[in-house]
Amino acid sequence: MEEAGIVSDAAGAPVAGHRPSVAGSSHARGSAEPVRYQGGSLEVRDLNMAYGALKVLHGINLTIRPGTVTCIIGPSGSGKSTLLRCLNRLVEPSGGDILLDGDSIFRFKPEHLRRRVGMVFQQFNLFPDHTALGNVALALRKVKRMPKDKAHDIAAARLAEVGLAERMHHRPSHLSGGQQQRVAIARALAMNPEVMLFDEVTSALDPELVKGVLQLMARLGESGMTMVVVTHEMNFARRVADQVVFMDEGRVVEAGHPDEVFDNPQSSRLKRFLSQVL
Ligand SMILES: Nc1ncnc2c1ncn2[C@@H]1O[C@H](COP(=O)(O)OP(=O)(O)OP(=O)(O)O)[C@@H](O)[C@H]1O
Ligand SMILES: [Mg+2]
Repeated sequence: MEEAGIVSDAAGAPVAGHRPSVAGSSHARGSAEPVRYQGGSLEVRDLNMAYGALKVLHGINLTIRPGTVTCIIGPSGSGKSTLLRCLNRLVEPSGGDILLDGDSIFRFKPEHLRRRVGMVFQQFNLFPDHTALGNVALALRKVKRMPKDKAHDIAAARLAEVGLAERMHHRPSHLSGGQQQRVAIARALAMNPEVMLFDEVTSALDPELVKGVLQLMARLGESGMTMVVVTHEMNFARRVADQVVFMDEGRVVEAGHPDEVFDNPQSSRLKRFLSQVL
């Protein structure tokens, strides 16, 4: 079952106290204390990736500073998801390197890497027969082999942090799409990552539910989490990003501060793209 596969990916990504990314909130059952994260850095060097004969990424270079938000924009098929998936080794590149806090990610076992680099997808991939609390706690128990009480305490704190203290005992079918996506974000946060990857996480949501999830992501960014966000939400990118990266045909065409990218695009490809989406 697909869901089981994806949850075990998340569940393959424990924390094990690797580094103290979250300051002082994990026992706050049911209360949304302010949380500070200690985001990590990423450095992408001359990254190439091919699906068989199809070359998808061509010499990508990218610097992502700790605690910053990078938004990746670009047309369909330009390689945005593929780049994101390389960052936590859901796919393996054909060349180049990626450094997490200065260390090549190819020296880690993928499941260890995914403890440090969490990912949230467009589909929520929650277990329908578990409550929100159960979904988050299950990942902690499987991955970190945490005792039930402790897993529930941390799950409750993470759910409170994403604004779901009141809804944590409900199953996914009794939650809105936006709430389900926030459970998926809480599940990833429970693993205590230092980088969070988001791949079009609001694209499947009804328009009125998009705002709440974007607000949550903006808050996470302000809290020090390092985030790489593939998005079609240009207003979000303009407002929240420290860096916007425009990709086309597997290349980074332009990257810079949102003001530069949106207000002063240099390439005809970015100008054309912006004229279509703004
Ligand atoms: N599993 C796969 N096997 C073969 N080709 C793939 C696979 N996944 C993606 N591709 C191809 O790789 C290229 C880049 O795809 P990718 O999903 O990274 O683009 P994207 O920028 O995320 O697009 P979108 O905005 O539509 O999500 C496309 O040509 C796509 O068809
Ligand atoms: Mg994509």
